[in-house]
Amino acid sequence: MRAVKVFHMEAAIKENYGYKYIVPTHQGRGAENILSKVLIKKGDIIPGNMYFTTTRLHQELAGGKFYDIIIDEAHDPTNEHPFKGNVDINKLDVLVKKYGAKRIPYVSIATNVNMAGGQPISMDNLKKLRAYTKKHGIRIIHDMTRVAENAYFIQQREKGYEE
Ligand SMILES: Cc1ncc(COP(=O)(O)O)c(C=O)c1O
Repeated sequence: MRAVKVFHMEAAIKENYGYKYIVPTHQGRGAENILSKVLIKKGDIIPGNMYFTTTRLHQELAGGKFYDIIIDEAHDPTNEHPFKGNVDINKLDVLVKKYGAKRIPYVSIATNVNMAGGQPISMDNLKKLRAYTKKHGIRIIHDMTRVAENAYFIQQREKGYEE
């Protein structure tokens, strides 16, 4: 019965996201463990829009060092910025210039950022981030937790995505 459910999930992911290869895990933290061990080398730098506890733990157990690159507004609970999950690309640029893109295996991105109180990231910011990381040959690893809720905030708050 269990195996059947996994195959069903695999088929649904392939159908909806178009990915050819899928590795099912028991929980998010199981995926974080595998991903961190595969992608991070000792001394690597992992920038992220804040962190989730187990995400950062696995990154640092694998030998990486986490750096927070979320916008300053995210650290101010009274600030009413509509997308406090956004990345400050200047903060990322400082890390790339200081350590070099080769020491950054990926940028760790969360939607509805847990440690910021569930704040969303905008489509515009994600697109700018992807343009920057593409130019420097850096991956984005997107933790899809609460991605549907983040999409709702984009639809509600970001011009051009109302429909
Ligand atoms: C952003 C984020 N990443 C990873 C996890 C870990 O997921 P799991 O509890 O399934 O191990 C969580 C859990 O809440 C999370 O909020």
